[in-house]
Amino acid sequence: MGRAMFPYDVSIVVPCYNEVENVRPLVEALRRVLADYAWEVIFVDDNSPDGTIRAVHALAGEDQRVRGLRRVGRKGLSSAVIEGILSSSAPIVAVMDGDLQHDEGQLPALIEAVRGGCDLAVGSRHVEGGDSAGLANAWRHTLSNSGTILAQCVLPVRLTDPMSGFFAVSRSVFDETAPNLSGSGFKILVDLLLSAPRKLSVQEVPCTFRSRLAGESKLDMLVMLQFLTLLVDRFFHGWLPVRFLVFCAVGLVGLGVNLAIAYGAGALGLGGALAQQVGTGVAMVVNFVLDNQFTYRDRRLKGARCWLGLVLFMLVCTVGAVANVGIARVLYDQNATLDVAGIAGAVLAVVWNYALSSALIWRV
Ligand code: GDD
Ligand code: MN
Repeated sequence: MGRAMFPYDVSIVVPCYNEVENVRPLVEALRRVLADYAWEVIFVDDNSPDGTIRAVHALAGEDQRVRGLRRVGRKGLSSAVIEGILSSSAPIVAVMDGDLQHDEGQLPALIEAVRGGCDLAVGSRHVEGGDSAGLANAWRHTLSNSGTILAQCVLPVRLTDPMSGFFAVSRSVFDETAPNLSGSGFKILVDLLLSAPRKLSVQEVPCTFRSRLAGESKLDMLVMLQFLTLLVDRFFHGWLPVRFLVFCAVGLVGLGVNLAIAYGAGALGLGGALAQQVGTGVAMVVNFVLDNQFTYRDRRLKGARCWLGLVLFMLVCTVGAVANVGIARVLYDQNATLDVAGIAGAVLAVVWNYALSSALIWRV
């Protein structure tokens, strides 16, 4: 593909959040290492409070190869990368972090690998010559290694470092894959590999992961949960919505709370029925809080709508509980065993609660 068709050989996409001090050094580094290429860089910033986008705009004023894509009201590393790639045009796209942790010196090797015909070239810390010294501490190493093992269980191709965020991909492969991407979480590479319509040819390039000098990592509990969600979702090929699985997990926690409180209240001398009601009430509140926090994180209710949601939630669950007991009784009367009847009732209640809370309480 000649220059006549594309103004650039490669588009570099850089997600950034609160990286104001890092963007200029990164552009300077790109100028150095990409001297032999026609390149553009797109910084995708999620409206960072530190004014990252202003620093990017200042650079854009000096160098037309620099662009800033500013997103407002949304956050997320993977979706930022996807939108950055969609906004670019070169036949090869490279993705790297905006905090100087990825060694830009390895960009040409990644680009050349894709030029040489592979679909995807991945910077790996775990091949000969690679190194992950920049992971801040032992905890981060453990996390990274666990994620790697988990990802390797579901990935269609063998990769030593599927957690890497430093890679180059051919545009045609990205374009084929884009409609299937989940876009959630931190690990766009895992998303790409799991969403591609066919098995991709992948080449690994040794890369070093440097320490962060300025700013701080955005990896947190939520990001880890999103990663697990992505793996589970792809594992079930979208048949069983992850939201439903999380809802069930929260339901189990609620059940535990319910039983513990009913037992405790009973031990304190509260009558059986009253103890059960207190337990159920507390469990509903706990479930509501957890669902608002995790299951429907992206539709979280706040303020007055949160209280209204709680009332609705308790109503829905009460109806669900009544239906649960009703169904179990009908089945039991028809000679089902006690546990089969109980399980059928519980399944019905969960599906009911999920359907109604998605449609009424945390609606889109
Ligand atoms: N636009 C946008 N929106 N950018 C984000 C967001 C977000 O919500 N969250 C993080 N970023 C940017 C950061 O500013 C940084 O440039 C890059 O994404 C990586 O984020 P870090 O928070 O620095 O991640 P890390 O160093 O802990 O984790 C990295 O782990 C891998 C190796 O274990 C990953 O992001 C990988 O890219 C990396 O290879
Ligand atoms: Mn980082």
